[in-house]
Amino acid sequence: MKVNKICCIGAGYVGGPTMAVIALKCPEIQITVVDVNKDKINSWNGPLDQLPVFEPGLDQVIKQVRGRNLFFSADIDNSIFDSQMIFMAVNTPTKTSGEGAGMAADLKYVEECAKKIAEVSRSDKIIVEKSTLPVRTAEKIKEIIYKHRSNDVNFDIISNPEFLAEGTAIEDLFKSDRVLIGGDESFSGQRAVSALVEIYSKWIPKEKILTTNIWSSELAKLASNAMLAQRISSINSLSALCEKTGANIEELSRAIGMDNRIGPEFLKASVGFGGSCFKKDILNLVYLSKYYGLDDVADYWLQVLKINDYQKDRFTKKIISSFKNIRDKKVLVLGWAFKANTGDSRDSAAIYVAYNLICSGARVYIYDPVVSKAQILSDLNFLFKEDNISDVQKTIFSEKLFIINSFECEINSSDAIAIITEWDEFRDFDWNKVTKKPLIFDGRGILKDFYYSIGK
Ligand code: NAD
Ligand code: UGA
Repeated sequence: MKVNKICCIGAGYVGGPTMAVIALKCPEIQITVVDVNKDKINSWNGPLDQLPVFEPGLDQVIKQVRGRNLFFSADIDNSIFDSQMIFMAVNTPTKTSGEGAGMAADLKYVEECAKKIAEVSRSDKIIVEKSTLPVRTAEKIKEIIYKHRSNDVNFDIISNPEFLAEGTAIEDLFKSDRVLIGGDESFSGQRAVSALVEIYSKWIPKEKILTTNIWSSELAKLASNAMLAQRISSINSLSALCEKTGANIEELSRAIGMDNRIGPEFLKASVGFGGSCFKKDILNLVYLSKYYGLDDVADYWLQVLKINDYQKDRFTKKIISSFKNIRDKKVLVLGWAFKANTGDSRDSAAIYVAYNLICSGARVYIYDPVVSKAQILSDLNFLFKEDNISDVQKTIFSEKLFIINSFECEINSSDAIAIITEWDEFRDFDWNKVTKKPLIFDGRGILKDFYYSIGK
């Protein structure tokens, strides 16, 4: 089956960049990315330096394809109606209420999409699960679709999880380690898989396109994220032991990573992993394991998250306990994004560290080269709300909170500096210029000269 019209529901970190790259590599396919958030669609259609996703190289791809064969639109119904293949790239956050709250993935956005696709479609469609989903979600989608569809329309559901990392999304999409496509074994299921294989084959070598059954594909995505996060928690747990014994975590990582069977990636000790996915996907895995009665498996994966919390806590306590009393001490927090080269602060370790410093009475100055002041305030307010902090207390805290546009001139007057994101400008800054030495807490192991660096 030849696909020449694609619709992608969800114009976020995944939908925007992935469709931009498919559009670039497949000029014969017309792609429309739709979203319920009209402001987001307007930004995608706006100036290239204000796209809703900050991602190196993205603007250059968008420049080539926008208006050629890539379109951003708020007209969801017409775009679905017109397309042969529909990607679902909507968010799948952790549930906040109902059964599985705090653990299971909230599938309401995926379910809304399924219902909408069924109601609007008048011709056969291939539905591609791009969002990260619990294993066996395709079954649920099928149920919804068959309940709401017009009788004579056929739907094939296939799984094609996304493995890009933020900050390197375009590079990752150009040269994926693998593209995973799962489908059912029926004739039309396999035809749908082939249609998607054909699209990726335009730039991904055939041997890197892996086709599996649909459940393996859904579960492989959760498992990949869990394994990556597990490596970080493993190395972070060892960083605590290094500090007690005089071993050095960087030397340890190097020594471990040179074993071919282990490999060097994802062994960098840190203040803890952040981002929108590792935590939610592991919680989802824990929930699924419990659901299937595998409590020991659930406990194993939960420990990865516990060590991550332990590490963030350990780092924060290190700062606080370095002073007799941290009250009114000036702490400069460098970096708010959960990693360098992204404007995304979802679940960033910075939020936890800054929040606890503020609650301990420190004067906290925050700088990030990309994350906006509004976003930083919204991240902190979320925690204030969650902890039921009173308005009076919030006002007291806000008098001690400063979100700044440059960091250099604040360094000499700071009592402590916490480096949370490994932005190049922190790495490249000439720290020898610092006259009065504040205590430097290097959460990313990027400086040579430091007061405290994790694992050393
Ligand atoms: P996001 O929040 O950036 O984007 C999701 C978009 O979907 C939002 O703009 C939202 O308005 C839109 N949306 C929700 N319901 C909708 C509906 N019914 N109709 C139309 N639009 C709707 O999320 P994201 O970071 O792009 O993640 C999307 C999925 O991809 C998640 O399942 C995530 O786990 C997975 N994933 C994310 C990354 C990443 O780096 N962010 C990488 C791999 C996989
Ligand atoms: C991660 C995965 O790497 C992607 O493959 C996956 O598609 C994506 O999640 C997803 O499903 O959302 P991402 O979260 O964007 O990508 O970024 P990573 O590079 O994985 O970093 C995640 C966090 O781990 C960051 O806070 C980073 O600083 C931290 N990290 C990473 C470490 O602390 N140590 C390391 O060695 C590597």
